[in-house]
Amino acid sequence: MDKNKTYELVVKQVESLLEGENNTVGQLANAAALLHETMGWWWTGFYLIKDGELQLGPFQGPIACYRIKHGRGVCGTAWAENRTIVVPDVEQFPGHIACSSLSRSEIVVPLRNSDGEVTGVLDIDSKDLATFDETDAHWLEEIARVIERTL
Ligand code: SME
Repeated sequence: MDKNKTYELVVKQVESLLEGENNTVGQLANAAALLHETMGWWWTGFYLIKDGELQLGPFQGPIACYRIKHGRGVCGTAWAENRTIVVPDVEQFPGHIACSSLSRSEIVVPLRNSDGEVTGVLDIDSKDLATFDETDAHWLEEIARVIERTL
């Protein structure tokens, strides 16, 4: 299926999955599971800001590092710069944090509060190079807008 069509469906599924629930951990876990299973990525999950650093939240995939500092790695850079970062080849990203040696490409999308401040990130890794492009960035930002309402 065309990537845009797949994402259109996924946005609707995420909306209905999160609706009417107030268990944030469960909602984030289900959102990660839905995205991961549907899209076939290697690692799909959340880091949330707590005590001035990004701390590991619900995810699907191999074990991951617990804490990431502001400005460090792809996640900490997305936080510091308050923008989505697409990394076609993680080996070319200075300071990339390799939680899994099998990750080859990555996208990190900030989650924000109503003041536009970053409260966490949606982080996705792929075992293939250049998995993510501007289409993924566009749709994952739509999905982030839905998910951040649960925080
Ligand atoms: N690669 C990330 C660290 C988190 S793992 O990918 C799950 C980074 O550089 O911030």
